[in-house]
Amino acid sequence: MISNRRNFLNGLGKLGLGGLLAGVTQPVWSRELQQKINQFNGLPAADLAGEEDFWYAVQQAYTVSPSLINLNNGGVSPSPRVVQEAMKKYHDLSNEAPSYYMWRILDQGREPLRRELARLAGVGAEEIAIHRNASEALETVIFGLPLKAGDEVVLSKQDYPNMINAWKQRALRDGIKLVWINLELPSENNDYLLSQYTRAFTARTKVVHVTHIINWNGQILPVRAIADAAHAKGIEVLVDGAHSFAHFLFTLPSLGADYFGTSLHKWLSACIGSGLLYVKKEKIASIYPLFAAGDPKSPDIRKFESTGTRPFFIEQAIGKAIEFHDMIGAERKEQRLHYLKNYWMTRIKDLPGVQLGTSLQPAFGCAIGLVSIDDRKPAELDNFLLDKYKIHTVSIEWENIRGVRITPNVYTTTRQLDVLVEAIKAFVNTKSF
Ligand SMILES: Cc1ncc(COP(=O)(O)O)c(C=O)c1O
Repeated sequence: MISNRRNFLNGLGKLGLGGLLAGVTQPVWSRELQQKINQFNGLPAADLAGEEDFWYAVQQAYTVSPSLINLNNGGVSPSPRVVQEAMKKYHDLSNEAPSYYMWRILDQGREPLRRELARLAGVGAEEIAIHRNASEALETVIFGLPLKAGDEVVLSKQDYPNMINAWKQRALRDGIKLVWINLELPSENNDYLLSQYTRAFTARTKVVHVTHIINWNGQILPVRAIADAAHAKGIEVLVDGAHSFAHFLFTLPSLGADYFGTSLHKWLSACIGSGLLYVKKEKIASIYPLFAAGDPKSPDIRKFESTGTRPFFIEQAIGKAIEFHDMIGAERKEQRLHYLKNYWMTRIKDLPGVQLGTSLQPAFGCAIGLVSIDDRKPAELDNFLLDKYKIHTVSIEWENIRGVRITPNVYTTTRQLDVLVEAIKAFVNTKSF
């Protein structure tokens, strides 16, 4: 017991709770999480995925509303309490004397944070820029790549609208040509997915834009295979990882991307307004920054961070989100998220008229699931879930994808998903609502 406590206190040191602004007492939620971590220590991640006792303690580390079941964590995730508290404290500190505390104190945390993010991503710190969201990171590359009229970019109709708009704007301004592919999803066929991209490659293709997890239905794309095929033809690879980073286990080198952008306010549960850009070391010099820097051709990744006065309090709280992620463990998190998606999907899949829009296989999907009901509009189900059961989801109608997107997170309990299953059954039994 004493040694368990000592281990945990060591863990707390790692959590940084003893750091600059931490409180001196251990709150109840933290004590309970400690007990659960000790209790379940050594249990394989796949087995832990269904241990509600453990995950209930994780839920208590969040401040989520007990009166609404939030199943739209695909949009943005709440932060655990420890992250929120750090952000508020850093904000208060900033307001004691902003230019002093922001630029002389909090900014000192930027390089350690860069190193921590790089560790999580499995790359060097000199390849990581800290941004405010995935859009900023990805648009830095979309607008910064040296492309000229006639150059071709391959992308899919199922990519994210901000990125599609950025590429369209670039096409309008610079005369580059966008070559669209149209994916039939969901798919459990990596050969099909790969071939959709490779068929679009020509001698003029300079860049392929690949979304690692399609936000509309949670489809995981075979990025590595696409990247290898692209590189074999001298094509650069930009990966939109808004939904993949800290969602399931991978390292950036394993993807083979030249550029990767992600939000940190999705699956890392960092504060809202945080993101990351990865640029392969040898590519940095050739990308113009979105916000001009002293030397736009510099090989220093920091040139992509010239965004002016920024919310240091949000940025510095990212460190706490990394600690929280490490504490749960990336593999445990992935297994739990996959378990939750399959938990509700397998319970409704055989109902009359129900169509699953997401694979149940771990290689093709993780937390995000899409469901549609024959002859019913997605918005009908979305409204029904909210009005009758206080379940918040999002209806999707984009290109060839339609349905209601359901996205649990680590704080979601199976008891809440039982309510979802009951609600979908009730909806299926109503002729029209
Ligand atoms: C696939 C994908 N890319 C990019 C983004 C943009 O992320 P952000 O709003 O954090 O810039 C999103 C947001 O949902 C997304 O799902």
